[in-house]
Amino acid sequence: MLEEQMVGSIAQRIQQELAALSHYSATEKGVTRLPFTKEAEDALVCLEKMMKETGLSTCRDHSGALHGFLPGKSEKRFIIGSHYDSVVEGGAYDGIAGVVCGIEIARHFSTDSLPFTLEIVAFNDEEGVRFGGGFLSSKALLGELKSEELKKYCDADGVSCYEAMQRSGCDPEKIAEDVWPLENIAGFLEIHIEQGARLYQSGLPIGLVTGIVGMRRFDIEITGRADHAGTTPMTMRADALTAAAAFILTAQKAAAERAAPDVVATVGVCEVKPGTVNTVPAFVHLTLDVRSLDAAVRDEVVETCFDALHKAAAANDLAVKTQEKLTVAPVKMDETLMARLSEAMTEEDIPYMALASGAGHDALPIARRVPAAMLFVPSRDGRSHCPEEYSEPEDFARAVRVVIHMLEDWSE
Ligand code: GLV
Ligand code: MN
Ligand code: MN
Repeated sequence: MLEEQMVGSIAQRIQQELAALSHYSATEKGVTRLPFTKEAEDALVCLEKMMKETGLSTCRDHSGALHGFLPGKSEKRFIIGSHYDSVVEGGAYDGIAGVVCGIEIARHFSTDSLPFTLEIVAFNDEEGVRFGGGFLSSKALLGELKSEELKKYCDADGVSCYEAMQRSGCDPEKIAEDVWPLENIAGFLEIHIEQGARLYQSGLPIGLVTGIVGMRRFDIEITGRADHAGTTPMTMRADALTAAAAFILTAQKAAAERAAPDVVATVGVCEVKPGTVNTVPAFVHLTLDVRSLDAAVRDEVVETCFDALHKAAAANDLAVKTQEKLTVAPVKMDETLMARLSEAMTEEDIPYMALASGAGHDALPIARRVPAAMLFVPSRDGRSHCPEEYSEPEDFARAVRVVIHMLEDWSE
């Protein structure tokens, strides 16, 4: 068991490091750290320095992820990580706290003390905010991304992910060179804030994640015709926003009406063009994000939304174009790894609850390919993806302590 004093210094360091990293942001309000931007690069340089100071050897891969290595007794790897990008005006904890916790875990061990090499990863573009997809580095490391696909993912200014990578010094043609040796991975672990209110309301300091929802994300473009708002009769309009409205309301209703309580549907983007008070909307760009632990329920909601959209489009003489930008199946966490973590928590006398994740994480695509587990720490008031996001440094230190305990037991 780690001594209280040591846990206190871990908590203090985590708090200081997260506060320092929060300054790498494009906005004053909250943290905005989109992939392949100056603030993302600055955060990466800071994390690289922290890893090196901890004694890890580091390298960057072609997707913009950072890896730190502590050699162990074998070539096998145990990987700990999370992402360093953020949403727009998000918080200082989502993702990056898991990277900082990973570095703290590595700090505790010396070279060759573990039965495997410890690899700490800061993944790039988990959120998918800039290009609409998500899980860029984790999918690239799993060998699930083709460089050609990256040309289809564009940001609001029309810059493709492929181009953005090149501009920031990454070579998208070389992502295949970074693929993990999957047969040689003993496990993957991600520490993350819960981003919901269950742990906070329960008063428990740790959550053991049982599974993660499956997600589908779409880009939708509805094209109608711009006309004078005062002179065009209602019967002669091709108003793109009417179909968008039907789609948005259907998404909300279709998810709310399902018996599965974990199914959620969100339209997070609605851009209207020309977007003026006296012109009939000619064009609307929407996004749709639907999630559930049950893939069939998720797919039913998606279908209901698009049925409503196509009906409204036909009734209003509109053209619809859709692009599915992300499809990930729900996953269960690895039972053996969960049992190891559970045992460590019992021995450390840390109470916890088992819960599923409604948020996406790098562990989602990874768990399909290698044994993976996640620990959650409580989010104050359940708030996340907003500047108010906050988690207690002592809770991160508890999670770090649990993982150290599990790894120490592993080497016995
Ligand atoms: C990432 O935070 C997501 O769940 O969208
Ligand atoms: Mn997030
Ligand atoms: Mn996250």
